[in-house]
Amino acid sequence: MTQEYRITLLPGDGIGPEIMAVTVEILKTIEAQHHINFTFQEALIGGAALDAAGHPLPDETLEKCRNSDAVLLAAIGGYKWDTLPRNLRPETGLLGLRSGLELFANLRPATILPQLIDASSLKREVVEGVDLMVVRELTGGIYFGQPRGVFATESGEQRGVNTMAYRESEIDRIGRVAFEAARKRNRKLCSVDKANVLEVSQLWRDRITALSAEYPDVELTHLYVDNAAMQLVRAPKQFDTIVTGNLFGDILSDIAAMLTGSIGMLPSASLGASGPGVFEPVHGSAPDIAGQDKANPLAMVLSAAMMLRYGLNQAEAADRIEAAVLQVLENGCRTTDIQSPGTTVLGCQAMGEALMKALSVSAK
Ligand code: IPM
Ligand code: MG
Repeated sequence: MTQEYRITLLPGDGIGPEIMAVTVEILKTIEAQHHINFTFQEALIGGAALDAAGHPLPDETLEKCRNSDAVLLAAIGGYKWDTLPRNLRPETGLLGLRSGLELFANLRPATILPQLIDASSLKREVVEGVDLMVVRELTGGIYFGQPRGVFATESGEQRGVNTMAYRESEIDRIGRVAFEAARKRNRKLCSVDKANVLEVSQLWRDRITALSAEYPDVELTHLYVDNAAMQLVRAPKQFDTIVTGNLFGDILSDIAAMLTGSIGMLPSASLGASGPGVFEPVHGSAPDIAGQDKANPLAMVLSAAMMLRYGLNQAEAADRIEAAVLQVLENGCRTTDIQSPGTTVLGCQAMGEALMKALSVSAK
């Protein structure tokens, strides 16, 4: 029986449309072999939505996303919109999508592929074998806390304010996702906070510690965020699953990404308690190389694999896409961001074609 899925595509800005086009072709290739039928619908987000509809997240886009089985998002933002007021920034559209769909759990796996060890800025012996997952809280913390704004003080000086706040229930639900994720991995969970300074972090630490009673099979440790950042570059292999708040997760996931050689390789999944998830690369819209066919589509393609695995329960199809990515790297295909001596540098489209070839070979 063929499974039908409605997928909303949000190509967004910069390199977004290029990497999305490659990814859709890949998904079309696997449809037949896995008895899947995708119905794709496109919608606007970010700068593209601002230009066309005057808002970075038009109501119609959120509605389309809600009425789909999963959402694939490429990237948003660019120099052109950087000076707009905050409520009209492309980033505001992305944050609105996350909160509108209540996607509180962001899974960001960072695995070092043997073929790319030399693309890492760290030494081979430090990164070889790294396989970790950052579980980032995505709809709370300082990104959404109130009060926020820039206010005039009595002296007339301006004062900028943001608030880092977490409720117990918000900590518990992301904690549970993280313990469950750790259970499916190597049963080690490291919770990252700043409990030596911040009350909100002390509550975080207390709740995560309390939750650990329900997961006696998972070894729980705690690190302060500054130390965690250092440990990630000093000895990343000590980590299995990391759970942390929105801001710390934003920062640590970029560091984790770079361990693997390029942020152009990392996918992510944003999930809620129910409803469609959003699957997107960790990297941004790279406006400096947009439209030049230089982008690395692999993080986007791997995000589609995460969609199949975590959003649609199609693990076999996900496995095949991931295997095709490994295969093209094994064949020496690289985009500029991950090139090393002796490899063949391909553009975004040609990388897509190499992937399609690898997929058609694996179907035989
Ligand atoms: C990310 C990005 C976003 C974030 C930006 C674009 C708003 O950096 O997904 O990591 O800060 O969450
Ligand atoms: Mg980020």
